[in-house]
Amino acid sequence: MINKNCKIGVAGAGVMGSGIAQVMALSGCEVVCRDLNEEILTAAAISVDSGRFGVKSAVERGKLTDEEANNALARLHFTTDLNNLNDLDLIIEAIPERFDLKVSFWKELDKTTSDRTIFASNSSGFPISALAAATERPDRFIGWHWASPAPVMKLAEIVKGRETSQETVDTVVSLAESAGKSPVVITDSDTNWGYVTNRVYFAMLKEATSVVNEGIADRDQIDQLMTDCFRWPSGPFGMTRGATSGWK
Ligand SMILES: NC(=O)c1ccc[n+]([C@@H]2O[C@H](COP(=O)([O-])OP(=O)(O)OC[C@H]3O[C@@H](n4cnc5c(N)ncnc54)[C@H](O)[C@@H]3O)[C@@H](O)[C@H]2O)c1
Repeated sequence: MINKNCKIGVAGAGVMGSGIAQVMALSGCEVVCRDLNEEILTAAAISVDSGRFGVKSAVERGKLTDEEANNALARLHFTTDLNNLNDLDLIIEAIPERFDLKVSFWKELDKTTSDRTIFASNSSGFPISALAAATERPDRFIGWHWASPAPVMKLAEIVKGRETSQETVDTVVSLAESAGKSPVVITDSDTNWGYVTNRVYFAMLKEATSVVNEGIADRDQIDQLMTDCFRWPSGPFGMTRGATSGWK
């Protein structure tokens, strides 16, 4: 089981990766966050420091002390060098939602990274067993699906692949809990994209789009109706806009 002094890698420093790296550093882990170029890493560092959901804003809102924020920033390192992901307890992948990209990423990493490292994908819905098959460690491969903005949302949709070991599940559940999230372990599907959250969400979005196409209501009206009726923070269309922009 990984303890508080865990070392975590985050691949991708975009909307999700930067927030995931921030959360894991705040939870006490040493974090190395890797992306392809310095511009992206600089933007990620700014977002973690002084973005809308960054640590400075959390201090201003009384959610963190200055000391907690500074300690987290000191534990978080940004890099373009893939070699810096070599010897870690866990790597969380948050690169774009393209199956071919994720498969080649994991295949390459599997060759260079320590055998003990657990691999977790923040895919929005690709079957975890299919991603795990790109590696020689399907027992140490798991889905850990976060929601945006990662520093705020409690979601930890933990997807157990066909060969994911119970030890891997227990380790990731424990890390998610110590990061303040609410893990729910679900079973992988071989055939459907979306796990639970996105399958249910996209079913609703499909119906909302049919309502627009039938001329019954426009997008803004639907968002307002759903927000007012169910006390959701956002309607189906607003949710898509927010998730893709990081709620900026
Ligand atoms: N945005 C959301 O609301 C949301 C929510 C949950 C899950 N996700 C999932 O998280 C993943 C990332 O989404 P995002 O919105 O953060 O995308 P994004 O485009 O904001 O960030 C992806 C980053 O990955 C980088 N990247 C590409 N190849 C890489 C590699 N080999 N190594 C390291 N970095 C690499 C890109 O340069 C980019 O900065 C996707 O699988 C997405 O489906 C997104």
